[in-house]
Amino acid sequence: MPTETSSFDPVEVAALQPENLQRNVDEALAAIAEAGDLDALKSARLTHAGDRSALALANREIAALPPAARAAAGQRVGASRGRVREALERRQAELELERDARVLVEESVDVTLPWDRRPIGARHPLTTIQELFADVFTAMGYEVAEGPELEAEWFNFDALNIGVDHPARSLMDTFFVQAADGSADSGIVLRTHTSPVQARTMLSRTPPIYVVCPGKVFRTDELDATHTPVFHQLEGLVIDEGITMAHLKGTLDHMAQAMFGPDTVTRLRPSYFPFTEPSAEPDLLCFVCRGDSVGNPDRPCRTCGSEGWIEWGGCGMVNPRVLRACGIDPERYSGFAFGMGIERTMMFRNAAEDMRDMVEGDVRFTAAFGMES
Ligand code: PHE
Repeated sequence: MPTETSSFDPVEVAALQPENLQRNVDEALAAIAEAGDLDALKSARLTHAGDRSALALANREIAALPPAARAAAGQRVGASRGRVREALERRQAELELERDARVLVEESVDVTLPWDRRPIGARHPLTTIQELFADVFTAMGYEVAEGPELEAEWFNFDALNIGVDHPARSLMDTFFVQAADGSADSGIVLRTHTSPVQARTMLSRTPPIYVVCPGKVFRTDELDATHTPVFHQLEGLVIDEGITMAHLKGTLDHMAQAMFGPDTVTRLRPSYFPFTEPSAEPDLLCFVCRGDSVGNPDRPCRTCGSEGWIEWGGCGMVNPRVLRACGIDPERYSGFAFGMGIERTMMFRNAAEDMRDMVEGDVRFTAAFGMES
């Protein structure tokens, strides 16, 4: 308050006049009450309690007062600022509570909502079957080997005793890859079977060798119910001392039973492959008619064409010429090899009648088989 000795009249300092301070406080309280959310409150705080607010400026004026007048002015300004600060704190707490309540509602998860609007995918049954095969063999101590799909002609044919004039080498079956200069003779093909992995394995490992190799193979067939230009095989190769055809038969029986059930019956039908000698084709006893349709026109069987047996693949004892080409002494070691069609296996195992279903990628087909463990 002014004293008589003072030549300075604080009333002249407009910012410190009580009615001005009161107006500042009223404006601040109105803005604070009006702030509908925390952002609005933040800007109200800046305007009415920030460094450049009217009350902060008033506070600064106190220093310019004569000492005797400072205490009273300081009290007035302090009380005003205190009221504003208090209102800010109260509103801040209110708005935070409101926000928390809103977040709880907005971000809550309704656990009763349906969860399967977008169905999860399924693994392709051909993949599942390849893995099943791999499991059956790794359980017997085999390893899984791999080879390239773009294969050297030498591995695909020559190393396997398939001479240049062998029909399998003709343009009818094989996709030949053009050389970079456009000439036909790159020496590279899309592998027509998984048997080149036999040669690669024998060259890179020393016996005893026990491997299986599942993989894609390619032949120039049109896509129809029983053919596809890209299909899959499972190759098996064993090289050890004293391996005989009995080991081959036992292995095929075990594999057939693991894939098709314990009642499965197989037979070996003599055949020819350049890379095995002797060679055979493993057949499965037809599990629909179990052979009853043979010579029985009254009860024809579509599954085996009334043959009683279903062709499954090729096999045989590894030809000594192949062993030699791959650096293995045929006097000491012998071995067997087999190759099965995975698509054929799936047809019999899952009663999938049309190979086109296997390549078209319709998720309904995949989902029907894909969840099998
Ligand atoms: N590679 C042969 C084929 O694709 C199958 C086979 C594999 C035959 C191994 C004998 C031994 O027809």
